[in-house]
Amino acid sequence: MQLSEFRPKTIVEPFRIRSVEPISFSTMPTRKKALEKAGYNPFLLPARDVIIDLLTDSGTGAMSSRQWAGMIASDESYAGASSFYRFESAVKEITGFKHIIPTHQGRAAEHILFSNIAQKGDIIPNNSHFDTTRAHVENQGAEARDLVSLEGLDLEMILPFKGDMNLKALEALIESEGRENIPAIMLTVTNNSGGGQPVSMANIRGVSEIARSHNIPFYLDACRFAENSWFIKTREKAYANTSIIDIAQEMFGYADGCTMSAKKDGMSNIGGFLALNDDELATRCRSMEILTEGFPTYGGMAGYDMEAIACGLYEALDEDYLHYRIRSIEYLGEKLIKAGIPIVQPTGGHALYINARAMLPHIPPLQYPAWSLQNGLYLLGGIRGVEIGTVMFGLQPDGSEKPAVQDLVRLAFPRRVYTQSHVDYIAEIVINLYAQRNSLTGYRIIEQTPVLRHFTAKLEPIPDTR
Ligand code: F0G
Repeated sequence: MQLSEFRPKTIVEPFRIRSVEPISFSTMPTRKKALEKAGYNPFLLPARDVIIDLLTDSGTGAMSSRQWAGMIASDESYAGASSFYRFESAVKEITGFKHIIPTHQGRAAEHILFSNIAQKGDIIPNNSHFDTTRAHVENQGAEARDLVSLEGLDLEMILPFKGDMNLKALEALIESEGRENIPAIMLTVTNNSGGGQPVSMANIRGVSEIARSHNIPFYLDACRFAENSWFIKTREKAYANTSIIDIAQEMFGYADGCTMSAKKDGMSNIGGFLALNDDELATRCRSMEILTEGFPTYGGMAGYDMEAIACGLYEALDEDYLHYRIRSIEYLGEKLIKAGIPIVQPTGGHALYINARAMLPHIPPLQYPAWSLQNGLYLLGGIRGVEIGTVMFGLQPDGSEKPAVQDLVRLAFPRRVYTQSHVDYIAEIVINLYAQRNSLTGYRIIEQTPVLRHFTAKLEPIPDTR
């Protein structure tokens, strides 16, 4: 008798674990004390008091034995280290850009780029700016304009590429503001601020054509380029049989440069780069790099960081890894949807977003429903997520407050860190919290800073008077 092939549905992590880090299982009373001590702000919790840490996927991944081997054998020369050349050659092979400028993380690349191209009165369009990108654009006195497609603003509509740029709005902006006021067009892949939604190759090509026809440089914010490539392969018909690296190379091929946080799809704990083709701009950027980051063959990184990235960029393109990563988040999404929990759909590349405003209608936006939900997840299960809502975005420059567009809790997944049983645990906690959702109450802020208040604000729960 011949066995027929069988494809199990279980998500099998495509790695074995050879080095482990213990998790300490705190109890609810100790978490209650820890949260109170942290001013009810999860950013202020010591990580040792967290069971599953989904605060961010940035710099929190596990490295492979190959990466560690490269790190041990790194070259720490100040100038011309062989680790730099390995890093440069990997970045050049994948992106195809001519000048590779290393930086200590993504925002440093943004700082160097925008200080050299943007000025007061300019506008930089993007599908959605990430907050540091927006801050660097605004720091130059320029405006950061989000032009994500209308579908991208709908939290539950199931469409394959909700990170796409609205091309008509882009054309209209260039028409009304004039090419001379738009020093660059950016596209964030995947669109972090828009729910981790991908951008299609057709849209990247479309943005590139518009940019070229108006002679405007086009940059990718490429932090999650590998995840975006995976979505193109699995959701855009023409690419079903194309390899992930070929997709990535085609994506970069439409752009004139990119900023990159290697803490995401570089699979590194720190690092980044600015890559571009323009010789004259590269010279100016390198001068600034020497001033702010370091010599152009290390730019704020140790040799071993560059080794980790040189290897990590290829590991991020591995199909088995990408399948496990994207499928784990989708699997969590399926469990939550089945339990009736409102989440952003479809699930994104690096994170799952819970719609706290829909889940907790008894908490008004100005009492921060997503803040309450993130704290509920911590208290009940030691899970740390992050509020993306009214505490983060509600404070206006004049000191007044208004509800953010959405109140979401983002559960971001560190790379290669958690297994399916961790995901099952997360699902159990979220589902149980959902059953107890009426016990959650709002919060008020008792201490805050005028800028980026969510990182350091102190809050207190509003007593339940129902
Ligand atoms: N661009 C995007 C799309 C990002 O998500 C981030 C960081 C950056 C740029 C800046 O990179 O942190 O290396 O300076 N995102 C992290 C997050 C912090 O949690 O989403 P960085």
